[in-house]
This record gives sequence, C-alpha cells and structure tokens, in this order.
Amino acid sequence: MTTLPRAPRTQLPLLTPRGPHGSRSHLTCQFRCGNACDQPVPNTSGNGHVRDEISKAVARRSVLQGAAVGTGALVLGGLAATPAAAEPTTARAGVARAAVSGDLGRTAFRAVPPNRRDALVTPEGFRSDVVARWGDPVEKGAPRFDVRRQTPDSAAQQFGYNCDYVGVLPISGSRALLVVNHEYTDPNLMFPADVYDEDTQKRIEILSHGMSVLEIVRGRTPGSWLRADHTRARHNRRISARTAFTMTGPAAGDARLRTTADPAGRTVMGTLNNCAGGTTPWGTVLSGEENFNQYFDASGDLDPRYADSYKRIGVTGAGRGWSSVDPRFDLTTEPHEPFRFGWVVELDPSDPRSTPRKHTMLGRFKHEGANVAIAKDGRAVAYMGDDERGDYLYKFVSRDKMKKGEGAAARRHNMTLLTHGTLYVAKLVGDGTEDGYDGTGEWIRLTSDTTSYVEGMSVADVLIDTRLAADKVGPTRMDRPEDVEPNPVNGKVYVALTNNSNRGSATLPVDEANPVGSSMTRPSLGAPLEQKSGNRNGYVLEVTPARGDHATTTFTWDLMLVCGDPAAQETYFAGFDKSKVSPISCPDNVAFDSEGNLWISTDGNVLGSNDGIFRVPTAGPDRGKVEQFVTVPRGAEACGPLLADKDRSLFVAVQHPGEIDGATFEAPASTWPHTDDFPRPSIAVVYKHA
Ligand code: FEO
Ligand code: CA
Ligand code: CA
Repeated sequence: MTTLPRAPRTQLPLLTPRGPHGSRSHLTCQFRCGNACDQPVPNTSGNGHVRDEISKAVARRSVLQGAAVGTGALVLGGLAATPAAAEPTTARAGVARAAVSGDLGRTAFRAVPPNRRDALVTPEGFRSDVVARWGDPVEKGAPRFDVRRQTPDSAAQQFGYNCDYVGVLPISGSRALLVVNHEYTDPNLMFPADVYDEDTQKRIEILSHGMSVLEIVRGRTPGSWLRADHTRARHNRRISARTAFTMTGPAAGDARLRTTADPAGRTVMGTLNNCAGGTTPWGTVLSGEENFNQYFDASGDLDPRYADSYKRIGVTGAGRGWSSVDPRFDLTTEPHEPFRFGWVVELDPSDPRSTPRKHTMLGRFKHEGANVAIAKDGRAVAYMGDDERGDYLYKFVSRDKMKKGEGAAARRHNMTLLTHGTLYVAKLVGDGTEDGYDGTGEWIRLTSDTTSYVEGMSVADVLIDTRLAADKVGPTRMDRPEDVEPNPVNGKVYVALTNNSNRGSATLPVDEANPVGSSMTRPSLGAPLEQKSGNRNGYVLEVTPARGDHATTTFTWDLMLVCGDPAAQETYFAGFDKSKVSPISCPDNVAFDSEGNLWISTDGNVLGSNDGIFRVPTAGPDRGKVEQFVTVPRGAEACGPLLADKDRSLFVAVQHPGEIDGATFEAPASTWPHTDDFPRPSIAVVYKHA
C-alpha cells in the first residue's frame, strides 16, 4: 500500500469552463477519434457513483463540493518548477558523455526537458534512427513513394499512415519482424492541394489504415536497426482493407455480423483504427480496433433495432464520406458493418499467408489494445482498456492452457486460446484516502463462451454490445483506460488512464480511483500553470492480482502516478521527491524493460511541451522517479513504445507529426523526419551511442 504525501489535498472551486476538446489539436480529434470529446460521455449508466464504496472523505469531496480532490493553491515556493534536466540533443547529434554502462533500463541519463522542437530529442549519449516512414515500400512490388503520385494500389503496398503499436519479433540473430499498426489518416497533411480528387483520396486513405509487417536487420551500433531490403524480405506484408479476416468465437456468424458481401457473418475485409496492441507469449500480435465508430455514413435513416447499440459506441452516421467509394460504409443500406469492427485482432506475422482473426470472445468496444500474461495454471489472461471517458477495464481468461514450445502444433493450439474462456469487467473500491489512494477490486464475470452472466443478454449480445452489458453489472467508470499491461518482472498490471475532461462533473464525480476533478495545466511552454476542471493530466494505476495470479478475480490497486507538473499540488509520483521528476501529462501506452521499469508514452501534453517517453522505476528507492527520455516532434504523439534486443533498443512510433490546427500539406507545422518538406509519421529506434 502506498501512502500519499501528507500535504493536505485542499480543494479549489472550478475556475475555468471545460473546453470543447481534449488536449490534442482539432485535427487530431477529428481524424483520430471523430471528435469523441465533443460528444456527451457515452456511458450514462451511473456506474461509479460509488458513494457507499469510497471513503467518507472522498464522498464528501465529490458530492458536497462537486469538484476536485486535490488541486490546491499552487505551491511554487517549496518545489522546483523545472526538474533536473539538461540541454537535449537531437537524433545523430548525441555526444558520448555521462552514460554509465548497462542497457536502457539501467543507464543513467539526464532527463530531456520540456521543449517544442521539431525533432526527436534524446538525452546526451543516445541517438535515434528512423526505421520506417509513411510510404516506404513494404511488399515486394511496392513502388517508390511519391507524395504526388499516390494511388490506392501503392498505399496497399507501402508503409501506412500514423503508426501506433510497435511489436518486434526476432526471426534470427540479426533479423526481426517489425509489426506496426496504422491507426488513422489525415487528408490535410497527406495530400497536396489540387492533385487528387476526393474519391481517390478516400480510397488511398482507406488503404493507408491497417498494419504492416516488415523485416528489420541490426545496424552497426548495438541497439540500432534498419529496414531490410523489401524485395528480399519474405515476411513483409501490408494488412489493409484488401485483407480478409476470419471472425472467431461465439459471436462469429451472428445475424448482426452478416452483410451483403458476407452473408455468413464470418469474413471481414480489413481492420480499422488500430491503436495499441501486444505480442503474445506464443509469438502472435494482438491489435485493438479503437475509434471504428467514426467511419460510417448514413444516406437515410438508421436502423431503429440498433439505436441503443449505436448510441453507446458512438455510431451516428456522420462518417468520412467513404460510402461514395465503398457502399459498405453506408449504415442505411449496411446496418451491420459497424458490428464487424471494434474487436481485438490477432495476426501471425511469422506466416505471411496466414489469415488474421478478429476474436469476438474478447468483446467489442473501443479497444486500445490487449496484453497477455500467463496464469499460474497456464491459462492465458488478456488485459484490455476501453478508451473513452468513463469507460471500463476488462480482462479475459482462457478456458484452455497454453502449450509450450515453438512447433506448429503448439502454435495452432495457442491461436485458439482467445476463442474460449470468460470475459470480465473491473470494479475498483476505495478504502479511504487516509492510507493513500488505493483499495481493492474485483473482476465481475460478463460471459463465458457458453454462458452469459448478464441478465437479459445472450452470450453474443454481451460480446457484441459489451459496453451495454457491462453497464448492468456495476463496474467502475474510469478516465480513458488505454494500455493495460502486465509487468513481467513484478507480476503487477499497469494501466495508463490518459485524462478525462469530464471527471468531477455532476455526471462523473470523483472517486478514490479517479480522484482528480480539477487540474493544473499550462497553455504554453514557460507560461504559468492554470487551473482547469477535470482530470487533464491522467494517472497510472497499479493493479496487484490476488495471490500474484492473473486468473484470480480479486485484486488490490494503487494510484502509482498522478501525472502533471510536479509543482501542482495534485501530482504524485509514488512518493518520490517531486523536485526530482520530469513533468508528465497524458500517459497513453506503457512498456517494461527487463529490470521491470515502466516506460510511458504520452498523448496530448497539456503542460506546453511536446509529447514524449518516460522511464519510471517500479521498485526500490527510485520508485516513482519519472524521467523524460525522449520528446517527439511538434504536433506528434509518442506511441509504441517497446524495449527490444535485451533493452538495447527503444522503438518509438511517432504518430501525426505536425498535426496542429491550421497546418496543411503546403503549410506544415513539422517536417520531421526532415527527409521531405512535409511530415511523415515514422518508427524510430533509440539506442546508446557512447
Ligand atoms: Fe488510439 Fe486510445 O489512443
Ligand atoms: Ca485507500
Ligand atoms: Ca493510444
């Protein structure tokens, strides 16, 4: 159990109205998630109004004052406003100095300070190389990228737009497979004006979504990697709307999954809005279909049978206009197409001819990703977050045990693990804040592959409308649960809760697990902190499964990090000295090195800096010491991240560089990675260069 600092958590009244958007540019909001933050919070279940479950202290704060726990008067005097930091270096400009021996998990570095540079900035002694850029050839016959001569065919063979999840799977001593998600597209930044007609743009955009698999080879410096020659890389593959997926599990073939093109409801073309993911212990990659709801138009009325379902997931008919080039995106004529997205996808990158799968057993919601741990008895446990303000944490426990070994038979068996088992949703109960922001929790059963535990809903109902099912069993409404990932060293599970502009409002009061209803933010670098309503900087939640076993249905939890500027009263860094940590805002994806350190990427910094990647020890005297290791270029979000090659390599996905309001192809806000006069979302690898 963690004890929070003893400083009183005084409250301030709400001083500023909530803005219409989250912390990203209007462009990012529109193209990535269909302006989700402009919509009312879709979870109107009232779950999480846990006044009887949390301490009287917290209840008093949330109910009587309707606002914040935490944000006190800004205490500047006693805290260093800027944490320990040194002048940064950019890619290739690193100077060997200061670094001690060891891998990235152990090496000392001086934290990169907040900045607004159009560069991937690393500490002294490290450098970065770009491994794959938007448009780079992936498949054997892929043409050379020419931004003025893009075609649907070229997009289907080249590295897609807006890379997110990064997986690295070794295939030999010197080669590995890089597996990447391409979450969304931005036509303002992808297309020069007056070159393409609208329908061609849409076709290119559709095919710039999906995933890429490409072979990479070691570079000369330990930890560095290069893209292999694509004409000789037999594993290279683009997954796009031209790729068929097989539906698996109890909802496969359900009437709601059947369409004109697929009357059996078992084969779907493509995958959309793939955000984070995970590599399974059996060597496949899981990928989450997140804001899929935004792609569907309506030429007429919506099917009234699905009104509740559409509403809860945000399917409105206000799509991208894609139905003009592919009629399946018209809800009026194809009301079932949205039921074929919002799943967890499994891809076997070792077999370029394999058919990827969409696993209905893991439920349908705005899947951020899925990460698998193996329970003590050998069953597979997948942890998942539903990235929406006020939505839930989930886990799946397989019926069958994983088979060890790398043979084809074991692989075949293990690729069925996610089709039979039980799906759960999390309820977190506070035990009072006197002992810290921590408590207990339980995993509530929703359904197995044979029996639904939700009254009035069948197994398929629960899996297809998982949010509606979960609403009925009283889970805890969370602040945008993104990555949920088990730490292989200490067995605990870490949850990135990015932010929630509505937390602390009358409909979404604070509770012990979501205690910040008012936050200090900074409109620009160097500006004074300002107070805003809601949880603007996010948390990292640490979950400890009962008996250290991922299959158990109870746990304890503790808020390891309350993110923000260390000078803000509400922030908390596992008790570590706040004058010695980097400011951190909007945790999104997490990863671990072989020491068990937590690595966090951020999305939407509201402290005036570019986003970045941070290293945080989870144990020992430095537990909670948040240090910024990387900042990404202007307008970008940091995704991935992934430690690979015995922690010598940190892979980073630089998503949407230059996506700043007002930016266009002709007037870019970033030109990173500086190979062209426009930005190219890319994967970079960071390594020691001493
Ligand atoms: Fe695609 Fe939840 O970030
Ligand atoms: Ca507590
Ligand atoms: Ca994300």
